[in-house]
Amino acid sequence: MNFFRLVLLSLTLIPCTLFAQHSAIDKKVDSLLSLMTLEEKVGQLNQLSSDFAATGPITKDGDKQDRVRQGKIGSYLNVTGAARTRSLQEIAMQSRLRIPLLFAQDVIHGYRTIFPIPLAEAASWDLAAMEQTARIAAVEAAASGIHWTFAPMVDIARDPRWGRVMEGAGEDSYLASLIAAARVKGFQGKGIGNTDAVMACAKHFAAYGAAEGGRDYNSVDMSVRKLYEVYLPPFKAAKEAGVASFMNSFNDLNGVPATGSSFLQRKILKGDWGFKGIVVSDWGSVGEMVNHGYAADLKDAARIAMNAGSDMDMESRAYVAHLVELVKDKKIDTVQLNDAVKRVLYKKFELGLFEDPYRFSDEKREQAVWNNPAHLQVAREMARKSIVLLKNDKFTPGNQPLLPLHSGSKKKIALIGPLVKAIGDNNGFWSYSWPDDSTRVVSLWQGFINKLGNANSLTYAKGCEITGSDTTGFTAARKTAREADLIILSIGESAIMSGEAKSRSQLQLPGVQEQLVKEMVATGKPVIVLISAGRPLVFNWIADHVPAIVYTWWLGTQAGNAIADVLFGDYNPSGKLPITFPRSEGQIPIYYNYLSTGRPFKSDTDNTYVTAYTDLPNSPRYVFGYGLSYTSFQYSSVQLSANTLSKGQSMQARVTVTNTGNYAGEEVVQLYLQDVVGSIVRPERELKAFEKIRLNPGESREVIFTLDPTALSFFNEKLELVAEPGLFHVYIGGNSQATQKASFTLL
Ligand code: NOJ
Repeated sequence: MNFFRLVLLSLTLIPCTLFAQHSAIDKKVDSLLSLMTLEEKVGQLNQLSSDFAATGPITKDGDKQDRVRQGKIGSYLNVTGAARTRSLQEIAMQSRLRIPLLFAQDVIHGYRTIFPIPLAEAASWDLAAMEQTARIAAVEAAASGIHWTFAPMVDIARDPRWGRVMEGAGEDSYLASLIAAARVKGFQGKGIGNTDAVMACAKHFAAYGAAEGGRDYNSVDMSVRKLYEVYLPPFKAAKEAGVASFMNSFNDLNGVPATGSSFLQRKILKGDWGFKGIVVSDWGSVGEMVNHGYAADLKDAARIAMNAGSDMDMESRAYVAHLVELVKDKKIDTVQLNDAVKRVLYKKFELGLFEDPYRFSDEKREQAVWNNPAHLQVAREMARKSIVLLKNDKFTPGNQPLLPLHSGSKKKIALIGPLVKAIGDNNGFWSYSWPDDSTRVVSLWQGFINKLGNANSLTYAKGCEITGSDTTGFTAARKTAREADLIILSIGESAIMSGEAKSRSQLQLPGVQEQLVKEMVATGKPVIVLISAGRPLVFNWIADHVPAIVYTWWLGTQAGNAIADVLFGDYNPSGKLPITFPRSEGQIPIYYNYLSTGRPFKSDTDNTYVTAYTDLPNSPRYVFGYGLSYTSFQYSSVQLSANTLSKGQSMQARVTVTNTGNYAGEEVVQLYLQDVVGSIVRPERELKAFEKIRLNPGESREVIFTLDPTALSFFNEKLELVAEPGLFHVYIGGNSQATQKASFTLL
């Protein structure tokens, strides 16, 4: 029997009353902690990246491995693969107390199978589907020895210049909260400890999405009330869904770096919300407090971060270098240090790593789950649901919308643009490339061939690159276009133009792509534009002149098949924008739930002495919640179960939706609420409920929403969540400009 097992066994001899309030794991944690040296405790709080890239090799002779042996590293990120994680874990088993390593990884929107980027998935408004893709990501990652994903990112983002909008669920706190919970449930499955579940991580705590000017890593200055109302709810939702960890953020909030913020971490998260899991810093964010000018040096940064409640130091190496001395000098309370260590150990026990440190590193399971065709099917379904049809006008001759296409038609289709044959870009930022990507990731071109059975009716011209000013490809593109009956353009950003550190000041299509579209429209042929990007782009000329526009984001492994499914009508698009699309960068920040002003905006043509621009319409290009279908939906008037509501009670709002078109289709029925008078100025409307329904042509369905007291509540000046008496308007429709309205009074 080894030393460690002996210790665990001896626990049973300790009187039960001593741990009366403790769970079985708590007892094990306490026991182990009592055996640890200060150095070993600090080691558990040190997280390092592997020596090589995520999919690269690990050397067994590096000094990091020696530090593992000495118990000075508690967790690794960027070590993946059953074999590699196993080999490092073997080294951890040579340490004195045989405490296993935690392997963490950014499994953001898939691991082996890549799903649409999170913002795209959010456009599906399909919570079960998002839970399922997170589930599969967890199954694949867990089989590769990964215990912990740094996802979901639940930051609210109202500024598409910020490159990380691609990684979240958009601008709305209500929708994003539901998505946060769904993703946490998906990653954690039936619970941590199952070998197909990974610990989720709600990041970045907090307000990272509000970085000034959309510049990544920048400052955030906002009222605490706004923080509570807009930015914290998705974190709270993640916590309530049982998320295992939180990551703090790079930004300062009102002058205090989040990593050093006791207010965020000790008061709100661990105090008010009672969060018991791990709080990990963001990469280097402990040390960056020195750059912020908030800490004098790395030691000072370690002191501040630990005292503020950051349990684990990712890659600053501040804890491992200084915590021992800081504890000895009484600059850090042992109780706080122990608490941080316990949180880490608890998760290791919960994961079952003490029983079997290799239980996640299973090469057989890895092989089996990696090549599961069902995962690809889910990826295709999720990708189709994420696509947003922005425009599908009637086109002459024929006076019919261009979409859907008919796969039986003999029409010659020209596929034109720099993204038609793109492979890797489809995976978007925060994804992994695998050796077989060239055959596994479905390009648009391949998706069309798969749909049509061959390339006989297809032609191709690249036209131009994504960036740069070279127009020499236009000649070939024009020729290809003229010889075709229909032009489909695939344009946008490259995948690495959005993501971390990918802020852009201008959101137009890069390079000469818009010029290429103009050239194609000038041929007089029908043109459909597909736009791939990780954020809302600005494309006014296209929006005004091209009859059909489809927003295809980055859709992952099955991108081409999914786009072909939608274009050929095998799937009727149902995506709705989870973020407002501006007309111009000058409108940013732009979001639908703005506060009522004293000079409300009237219309895009009457902008005198109201809150508006003199050189730009006030309205966005596409509103939050917007998205078309090949069919049409009609909404009845809104019926409320009562005109008055007593405090604490709920009411129903009903609407009947009818499919008035020729295709079966899905509609996201959205309910918005306006609290007309409040002790704090309220938004003009706020999303409070939605339901995605499917209707056959001619079919009607009554949708019933229940409005409970929480839906009517907001944080008042004292940060109390209150529903104040007075008038409320209810709007129900297919986007955030829904006009069907009813009103009631809260007594
Ligand atoms: C920095 C990013 O902000 C964070 O989201 C990510 O999880 C870490 N790097 C680790 O890669």
